[in-house]
Amino acid sequence: MVADSLHRPLQDLRLSVTDRCNFRCTYCMPKEIFGRDHAFLPKSDILTFEELARVARLFARLGVNKVRVTGGEPLLRRDLPRLIEMLAAIDGITDLTLTTNGSALAALAKPLRQAGLQRLTVSLDSLDEATFRSMNDVDFPVARVLEGIEAAVSEGFSPVKVNMVVKRGVNEHEVVSMLKHFSGTGVVVRFIEFMDVGSTNGWRLDDVVSAAEMLRLIGREFEVAPVAQDLTGLVARRYQHPGGEFGIIASVTQPFCQGCTRARVAADGQFYTCLFASTGHDLRALLRSGLDDEALLMAIREIWKARNDRYSEIRSAETTTMPKAEMSKIGG
Ligand code: GTP
Ligand code: 5AD
Ligand code: SF4
Ligand code: SF4
Repeated sequence: MVADSLHRPLQDLRLSVTDRCNFRCTYCMPKEIFGRDHAFLPKSDILTFEELARVARLFARLGVNKVRVTGGEPLLRRDLPRLIEMLAAIDGITDLTLTTNGSALAALAKPLRQAGLQRLTVSLDSLDEATFRSMNDVDFPVARVLEGIEAAVSEGFSPVKVNMVVKRGVNEHEVVSMLKHFSGTGVVVRFIEFMDVGSTNGWRLDDVVSAAEMLRLIGREFEVAPVAQDLTGLVARRYQHPGGEFGIIASVTQPFCQGCTRARVAADGQFYTCLFASTGHDLRALLRSGLDDEALLMAIREIWKARNDRYSEIRSAETTTMPKAEMSKIGG
């Protein structure tokens, strides 16, 4: 076990396996920036499956038991089920999960499940065809993502979660309909306050629909009760409604840095100690320098011990305009 300078243990690892995505969500990879000529990482800069599994094994030795595979869009990484199989075999990793946009899930749910993936989260911002197509900005039809979610449920992922980023004037009127759609299915919907990640998504506080506001919208339709929960490692605040459970991720209005136990490794092997960090630590250079596991463990331990990030708690007009790693690179 290793704790940072604010006494937070290292418990979760978010591993990004690619910086590419087939969507151009306006709040994440706006087309003006991520256009045709955008330079994505060359293959040689991306960690191999063997390197990714080694990273996960090292973090597991330091106390990590939860690993989330992210991107970009992780299902674009060729042969992903093979990596899942390697991660699932690591001692100490008891919770292995993945966040996807769902576009390729109908075909991949089965092989991912067979490889040992336990849970799945699918991003879905709207059920309305026109709104969904304009939010993903590549005209991707919502029905294909819904098919992916159904495939995940029938393959036995438990629970399947749906992430909806709520943006004012864009999709806040769908908070209730999203909840109704998944009522009684066992799928847990999580509503996310629009965050100022990266430097390209044009974030404005006025565009954030607060957790309080979302609860008001939901409370008009449903009986809602909070679920008792532990604050360590907390991201979503959980609630019960008659059709099941839902969550709200309120990084802007109710920051949860106090219990933040998450390490992030980007596809190029940069190790970030916060989602909003501007720079990472070059784990790839260390991995490729021939160091043995003990030396690598020491390096990771030292980075974590020095960690003092609490971005969401100190967010201000100044921090919002600071340079930060892009969400598509760091994996959310
Ligand atoms: P569970 O393991 O199912 O509880 O999921 P999760 O909430 O850990 O992960 P998910 O990838 O679904 O993240 C949901 C949203 O929360 C995304 O928008 C993330 O960017 C955001 N999020 C996750 N971890 C953090 C964090 O440490 N800080 C902030 N500010 N946001 C986070
Ligand atoms: N604010 C909040 N959530 C975001 N995501 C991507 N960009 C943002 C943002 N600016 C979400 C995605 C995905 C998760 C990993 O992060 O929709 O569900
Ligand atoms: Fe792709 Fe997810 Fe970013 Fe949308 S939010 S562009 S699906 S990585
Ligand atoms: Fe953790 Fe940084 Fe998010 Fe705070 S802002 S919860 S420290 S990742």
